[in-house]
Amino acid sequence: MNVFQLLAIDHVKANTLLNEIASSSEYDIAMRARLCSELKRELELHSEGEKAHFYPALKRHPETSEFVQDALRVHDRMETALADIEDCPPDSREFLEKVGKLEELLLLHVQQEETEIFPTAERTFSPNESNVIAEKIAAMRPTRLQPAE
Ligand SMILES: [Fe+2]
Repeated sequence: MNVFQLLAIDHVKANTLLNEIASSSEYDIAMRARLCSELKRELELHSEGEKAHFYPALKRHPETSEFVQDALRVHDRMETALADIEDCPPDSREFLEKVGKLEELLLLHVQQEETEIFPTAERTFSPNESNVIAEKIAAMRPTRLQPAE
């Protein structure tokens, strides 16, 4: 698996969790809390991996270095949006608004990466480099539990 495939899988996971949160019942606070902590963990792993190995690789190439600053700005906004969700009681009226804000930012992040950054980087990085970055990111992660059916 190369780095683009790995990061795109993360994007799908985060998006799926956000959809689950958005469609969850306001009466099931425990479920919302569980999904939110899962989402936080997914986004943290994703963000740590990108910042540790993917963005530094983008910076090494003149074709891709200019993408990094904007990408990091969106990461900061996502972190703030995530913290806002955590500060919000899961059964409050504002909860879904805050979830919606994070959904918008995740969409922006995914669009930036998948429509612009990944295609350019894929043309720029050697296949070996793309694989090595994926391995380094995977090595930062605990062995995953099997996904729930
Ligand atoms: Fe990403």
